[in-house]
Amino acid sequence: MKIIHLSDLHIGKSNNYEKAREIVAWILENKEIHRAEVVVISGDVVDDGEDWQFKQAAELISRLREGGYPVLVVPGNHDYGPDGYRENPRSQQGFQEYISHTNEYPAVYIVGGQGFVLLDSMLEEMRHHEIWGAQGYLGGEQLLKLDRILEELAENPGVENVIVVLHHHPFDYLFYHGLRDHEDFKGVIARRKGAPPRVNVLLFGHKHLEHRFNDPDDNMEVLYGIDLIYASGQTVERDQDGKMVLPVIDLQRKEILRYHIP
Ligand SMILES: [Fe+2]
Repeated sequence: MKIIHLSDLHIGKSNNYEKAREIVAWILENKEIHRAEVVVISGDVVDDGEDWQFKQAAELISRLREGGYPVLVVPGNHDYGPDGYRENPRSQQGFQEYISHTNEYPAVYIVGGQGFVLLDSMLEEMRHHEIWGAQGYLGGEQLLKLDRILEELAENPGVENVIVVLHHHPFDYLFYHGLRDHEDFKGVIARRKGAPPRVNVLLFGHKHLEHRFNDPDDNMEVLYGIDLIYASGQTVERDQDGKMVLPVIDLQRKEILRYHIP
């Protein structure tokens, strides 16, 4: 199976909505080229967690769904409040109403024999109202549930790969935008290293920097026993050739394919 990995669309800021619309059109018009079956969005779908932004995002998401693609979305800090660092419970509710249709995290979806586990890296953060950063916080409760879910997925013979998706970056420790409980999160994953139940693919965004974490001198994939760890860049950003990059994860080959959208 192939998965399209979108991230940090920040709909509502400058012309990101128009760009996101171009991305959606490209996906729908080039099905035979990318051959993906699922679309994942790793958070910061909108810029300020406002209803009009959610409505624009929901319209694009429903276009993908009508085109036959399950769209799996996790929330980011910008989805839960203005500027991404002023948490607002009303925005959290809007995200649920317009975008995710769930308030249960981790949320598990099995699509085509692949187990997707969606995390809310703002869940515990919402209980600690502060205005000095864009951190994430999964919380012990969510991590315990994740642990249990990974056990269940391992016992399910119908699940080929486990794909965990969250918004915040688990490998960036800067205090004002990191994942507060990254050590605990990585502990849940690393203790399964080498044997099932394990995480096969870990996807996230937040930092607007595209990177696969398999550098020869600092290989996080080997360290944590994960086949593919990938931070999607900001999909609506244009590269030096003026094109947007659409990353597609090939689950079978554990490779990232990159398509350029003019
Ligand atoms: Fe973010």
